[in-house]
Amino acid sequence: MKMLVVGGGGREHALVWKLAQSPKVSKIYCAPGNAGIGELAECVDIAAHDIDKLLSFAREEKIDLTVVGPEAPLMEGIVNRFIAAGLRIFGPSREAAEIEGSKSLAKRIMEKYQIPTGAYRVFDNSEDAVAYIKNTGTPIVVKADGLAAGKGVIVAQTEEEAISAVKEILEDKIFGTAGIKVVIEEYLEGEEVSILAFTDGEHVIPMVSAQDHKRVFDNDKGPNTGGMGAYSPAPVYSPEIARFTLEKILKPTIAGLKKEGRTYRGVIYAGLMVTPQGVKVLEFNARFGDPEAQPVLMRLKTDLVDIMEAVLEGRLAEQEIKWSDEAAVCVVLASGGYPGSYRTGEKIYGLNQTGPDAYVFHAGTAYQRKDVVTAGGRVLGVTAKGGTVQEAICRVYREVEKIRFTDMHYRTDIGKKALDRPE
Ligand code: AMP
Ligand code: GLY
Repeated sequence: MKMLVVGGGGREHALVWKLAQSPKVSKIYCAPGNAGIGELAECVDIAAHDIDKLLSFAREEKIDLTVVGPEAPLMEGIVNRFIAAGLRIFGPSREAAEIEGSKSLAKRIMEKYQIPTGAYRVFDNSEDAVAYIKNTGTPIVVKADGLAAGKGVIVAQTEEEAISAVKEILEDKIFGTAGIKVVIEEYLEGEEVSILAFTDGEHVIPMVSAQDHKRVFDNDKGPNTGGMGAYSPAPVYSPEIARFTLEKILKPTIAGLKKEGRTYRGVIYAGLMVTPQGVKVLEFNARFGDPEAQPVLMRLKTDLVDIMEAVLEGRLAEQEIKWSDEAAVCVVLASGGYPGSYRTGEKIYGLNQTGPDAYVFHAGTAYQRKDVVTAGGRVLGVTAKGGTVQEAICRVYREVEKIRFTDMHYRTDIGKKALDRPE
């Protein structure tokens, strides 16, 4: 089989790495890919959002299956376009992906199908939004309705912060059309967990749990990022919570989407908050998480192509999915300054010295002549397995120490929440 993976970050490297292990796969292309992906696949110089070019490429190369990594092409309807052209593609349609692309739609669906989530209101004018904030009090969460590259959520501790977020989004239009509406949501307190699941539109199979680390500095300090590291499994996700999530969140969401004429096929990602009042949904994403995909796919034992084909052919109910009992931890090595401005083009030293049970997934890297250099905010996702989360943490940080580049920054506490737990 010839495959095309769309995207060029750490998540796509993990997807390519896993797909390359399938005996069914003869060749993988990745558009645009990165330096590390280039070791396993042929990188093609087409941007992930350039659907016209991706479609012509898939036609010309007779690609048997295309897999979409990031959300932007999903929202632009890449899956609809490929299907209309008679090509096989893994991911939700534009209508289904709107569960990520419009937060107000996601909330409306959750309300209609009684999926547990925080109380909320939607506004398109700042006067009403400000009145609501003054009436409700803080902390409160302000969210731009559309896709805002991970920057559209403001957890406001004070009334001033919340009001200025509303004004920036609705009046100054800092997120453009993604900010035509804002969702103002109840602040939820607890521990976060990411649950990714495969679904063919009817049947849902959750993957093993993972926990992301969104803030840039240790102990969850500093601004939010795309994710500075992740580990799997997350002990906060008890068997009881897992049952509740499947029965009361994932299944009714997929059934609800089908009733709405938005049948969902692909990977759905539920960002959950485990609160003292139970589990509540923070958000849905229409794709694998990044960096959650790295530790989760490292634990997947089943051939990913078999699972993807079962999803596309509506036979997920018959598909067995096996996971390693081992834990996995991914530490993101970022460019100093990220998520603000940072330098690129720094030479990376110490790649290719990876020990067993570890893998260095590339995110923002490129070749400059023969050197691998930094080319993004998140540069690498060093990932390792171990018998326990503790063991995987020790192993992953030993691997991290082998790598360096100028102004390299990483968190030293990835996975710590899994260890410091009350009995
Ligand atoms: P999102 O992009 O929706 O995942 O939001 C980014 C981050 O903001 C989440 O991972 C949470 O840490 C935080 N967040 C979002 N919604 C809420 C909420 N209702 N209460 C508390 N924190 C939230
Ligand atoms: N790690 C968070 C996300 O992929 O949205």
